[in-house]
Amino acid sequence: MKKVIRFLSILSSALLLSACGSENKPAMETEKTVSETPSFMDIVKDRYSCRRFDSTQVKKEHLDVILEAGRLAPTAKNLQEQHVYVCQSKESLAKIDSLTPCRYGAPTCLIVTWDATNVFTYPGDKYNSGVEDATIVATHMMLAAKSVGVESCWLNFFNPDEVRESFNMSKNEVVLMILPIGYAGENAAPNQNHFNRKPLTETVTYF
Ligand SMILES: Cc1cc2nc3c(=O)[nH]c(=O)nc-3n(C[C@H](O)[C@H](O)[C@H](O)COP(=O)(O)O)c2cc1C
Repeated sequence: MKKVIRFLSILSSALLLSACGSENKPAMETEKTVSETPSFMDIVKDRYSCRRFDSTQVKKEHLDVILEAGRLAPTAKNLQEQHVYVCQSKESLAKIDSLTPCRYGAPTCLIVTWDATNVFTYPGDKYNSGVEDATIVATHMMLAAKSVGVESCWLNFFNPDEVRESFNMSKNEVVLMILPIGYAGENAAPNQNHFNRKPLTETVTYF
């Protein structure tokens, strides 16, 4: 009897909901989206350097989110001196393979560069913020990727000048990093480094 009552109550709820018409649909979908969105700390904790990618290409809607997150990054004086190259063609990926052994089969690689002629120079004229600005752009993209289920691996294991020449980039451009992105391949998993972080007591000092 209890089961029948429960069934009837579920059925009446379902009928009630469907009778509410389309006006209620967006609200329900929004609730679902919000509850399924990982928190920022989930993204930070779950991101790892993926070294085994599936060959499936990154969906356009995911790539768009990733590139938009980079676009919205802050830069010194808002100079936005970064450039992001999206490598997806066979030729460009083969070039990357000739420049680094670390593509790990990713179907897309983002190359992040910055324009050395358009940077904020620190007082003292010795340093500029090109590396910081491009790093924030790259970090936004790396975390945005994780937020939509796309894995990545930050790469510096290449000669930046060779990359610049190989892709015919302007002499003013400095290559910061390469970000292979894609969906996790079979048995992809974080390596031991991922679980090995110093405690805050070693890296933070309160004054
Ligand atoms: C600046 C930088 C350069 C890196 N270069 C490479 C690289 O060339 N190849 C690679 O496989 N991983 C590279 N990594 C990934 C690091 O080894 C990895 O982030 C670190 O061991 C922590 O592991 P996790 O990212 O899985 O948490 C790099 C990471 C950073 C931040």
